[in-house]
Amino acid sequence: MTLNIDGIIGNSPVLREVYKILEKVAPTDSTVLVSGESGTGKELLVRALHKNSRRHDKPFVPINCGAIPRELLESELFGHEKGAFTHAIRSRPGRFELADGGTLFLDEIGEMDLSLQVKILRALQEKEIERVGGTVTKKVDVRVVAATNRDLEAEVAAGRFREDLFYRLNVIPVHLPPLRERGEDILVLAEYFLRGFCVEKDRPQMQIAPRSKAMLVSYSWPGNVRELENFMERLSILCEGQQVLPEDLPEKIQRDAGMPGQERVQQIVLSAGFAWPELKDMREKGLSLKDFLDEIEERLLTEALKEASGVKNQAAELLGIKRTTLIEKLKKRNLLDA
Ligand SMILES: Nc1ncnc2c1ncn2[C@@H]1O[C@H](COP(=O)(O)OP(=O)(O)OP(=O)(O)O)[C@@H](O)[C@H]1O
Ligand SMILES: [Mg+2]
Repeated sequence: MTLNIDGIIGNSPVLREVYKILEKVAPTDSTVLVSGESGTGKELLVRALHKNSRRHDKPFVPINCGAIPRELLESELFGHEKGAFTHAIRSRPGRFELADGGTLFLDEIGEMDLSLQVKILRALQEKEIERVGGTVTKKVDVRVVAATNRDLEAEVAAGRFREDLFYRLNVIPVHLPPLRERGEDILVLAEYFLRGFCVEKDRPQMQIAPRSKAMLVSYSWPGNVRELENFMERLSILCEGQQVLPEDLPEKIQRDAGMPGQERVQQIVLSAGFAWPELKDMREKGLSLKDFLDEIEERLLTEALKEASGVKNQAAELLGIKRTTLIEKLKKRNLLDA
């Protein structure tokens, strides 16, 4: 079976490693533990895992263990019998039973209470469950996939997570790297989201200016893909021009890619002597050849203008180009009266 990674965008080396594991593990019934910072796409990955499994036409049942109070969580997971507690007016199956034959997704497993962890472990080991207030056990055929943004090994060390359950869940660990480690994927995703939002908002397609691209790549993205997605939606609503210029980016992104730092980097480069850019520089920035050259050109144009105190004739001379060519280049970048 070829792997269906529909919806997961990105082709960076770190993500390709994840696809490789996914491809191997999806068709098996092994328990998978997905870790990664918030917004890295854990849920998307788990859904892809189910879609590519033998269980794909059986139920996919997610449950967010961090969002449900402890007393309710137990009956949500295992179901209850009539009269098991005050409001149990009818018997009800839990998520384990609902997922029979399919996949149960235990999201935010790190938030689960220790006493419930024991019951999960038992269900995993015995492949059977008991409803709250029930007296009989039921066999269930469920593949469990769990996700967490906590460091579960540290939680184990701190006594907040059961070691035995950790090992039982961690049969196949899959770590989703943060967006800032995915280099070129940042721009691929940015353009993908922007394209989608422009269609959705019924506005002409927007372009991201090369300088803005460089800033997006050097920003640290603490909220990962979710932050990038929300930010692209905001641009599709608020940005007035067809080009996303550096000044359209939020202050925190501008600050992160801030001038003082850049100047320092430039100084370091200068003091180390001149070096032509190499392929690795391009790769590090996550830019295509055209965008990389555009970025270099834009820097030289801006510097020449600055040195010529804005006098275009003089700047053109410094650059060895015609005044009209300079103006054309500036116009294309919306830098004409900057
Ligand atoms: N590689 C990707 N390609 C396309 N969209 C992505 C990708 N990764 C994440 N997303 C989108 O980003 C958003 C957050 O992803 P998701 O909910 O899967 O993250 P998460 O790791 O489960 O986050 P949390 O820990 O906060 O629950 C979703 O809208 C998802 O569709
Ligand atoms: Mg999630």
